[in-house]
Amino acid sequence: MSSLAAALREVVGKDHVLTDPDMKSGYEIDWLRQYIDDTPCVVRPHTAEEVAGVLRACAAAGVGVVPQGGNTGLVGGSTPRDGAVVLSMQRFTELGDVDVRSMQVTAGAGVTIEQLQLHARAAGLDFAVDWGARTTATVGGAVNTNAGGSRVVRFGTMRAQVMGLQAVLADGSIITQLGGLPKETAGPSLVQLLVGSEGTLAVVTAVRLRLVPWYQHTAAALVACDSLMHAVGLLPALRRLPNLDAVEVLLPEALKIACKHLGVTPPLDPASAGAFVMIDCAAHRDPTDELAELLSSYTGVLAVGAQRDQLYAIRDHVTIAIGALGKPLKLDVAVPVLHLDRLVRAVRAGLRELAPRAQLVVFGHLAEGNLHVNVLGAGDAEGALKELVLTTAIELGGTISAEHGIGVAKAEWLERLKGPAHVAALRAIKGALDPGGLLNPGVLLPVE
Ligand code: LAC
Ligand code: ZN
Repeated sequence: MSSLAAALREVVGKDHVLTDPDMKSGYEIDWLRQYIDDTPCVVRPHTAEEVAGVLRACAAAGVGVVPQGGNTGLVGGSTPRDGAVVLSMQRFTELGDVDVRSMQVTAGAGVTIEQLQLHARAAGLDFAVDWGARTTATVGGAVNTNAGGSRVVRFGTMRAQVMGLQAVLADGSIITQLGGLPKETAGPSLVQLLVGSEGTLAVVTAVRLRLVPWYQHTAAALVACDSLMHAVGLLPALRRLPNLDAVEVLLPEALKIACKHLGVTPPLDPASAGAFVMIDCAAHRDPTDELAELLSSYTGVLAVGAQRDQLYAIRDHVTIAIGALGKPLKLDVAVPVLHLDRLVRAVRAGLRELAPRAQLVVFGHLAEGNLHVNVLGAGDAEGALKELVLTTAIELGGTISAEHGIGVAKAEWLERLKGPAHVAALRAIKGALDPGGLLNPGVLLPVE
């Protein structure tokens, strides 16, 4: 290792190769302390050329490389394993000028989502993808997981924002596509191939991103629904709202523990309903009236327009609140919205049988049928519960990862979701771009 560390120091300078255990420790564990392993060293390049040098040195030493952004992932995709080097992207913090004509900006992979949003807003625009970890999560990680969050109903996932990128391939060659042309038909898009590739095909160093209007007038509401079915039943009406920005769902336990964690009184009594829908509208003019009118015929509505910040604080803290209670089984599934209720009923039935004392916390993104299923205290039943939830999602025509990625957590499951032909094609792409298996080994595709 010391010779690899020496080679890396040649590339990035001695201050940016960390071998001291205290200096490394923050990079060896994810934010929720779910995935922990040692790395021989952390390397912090700050140009694409330096990344190329790092990859060449690691390839020569036969040591794997785990790219890491804000380390807010939930599937073990950015923490070290099997002696791999951690390639931290935190020094890629450059933010280009906002181009208000094309509504685009170029951001370094290590720019946080919040920094990007604030930068865009200073120019009167906004960045569309948003979720609770915005202060820490980075652009590079968001591209690599095809992150989604709360505004997908309006603007799509990360994939829809990526207009171009720069990436370093495993052999150290650099692809630069940062022109941001909205129209180009020149073969398949390597840019889009890298979106969602979880650091297994290349190291993304910079991204050309689409921006959206900055809607400064917002109106939020929390609606108590008898059941998840009732919540899904709201969707057709909500989709008619011209300024609909987010439709999130919290089952009662999620509302309860997030409020408890924050030390606030729940805005509506968690015990009073089967599901809570959080709706947000955003526009250039106050959308309160349109939302209020739509919801006027519903009972159990928290005053429209009031307490939006509090609602978002609650919503943003569910994951942290769960993490504070223990180490959950964490699954990020999506099914067609019609089947959401069946999914949750199957999960509850499985829990009754397999782990009756476990605590189930469910929340997510209603419009996309995306639920975060968290189970605390399942003990030995975790494996069987995971099997049940993921199998049910697949059987219902859904997916085992809607926005968190496959990581190491679900690599063994990819073939069950996608089938052997699909996985063989992915392996062929991986083999062509990274024949030595250098980049993020064990993530996405199981090690053969
Ligand atoms: C959320 C993250 C966990 O929706 O995806 O809060
Ligand atoms: Zn989510």
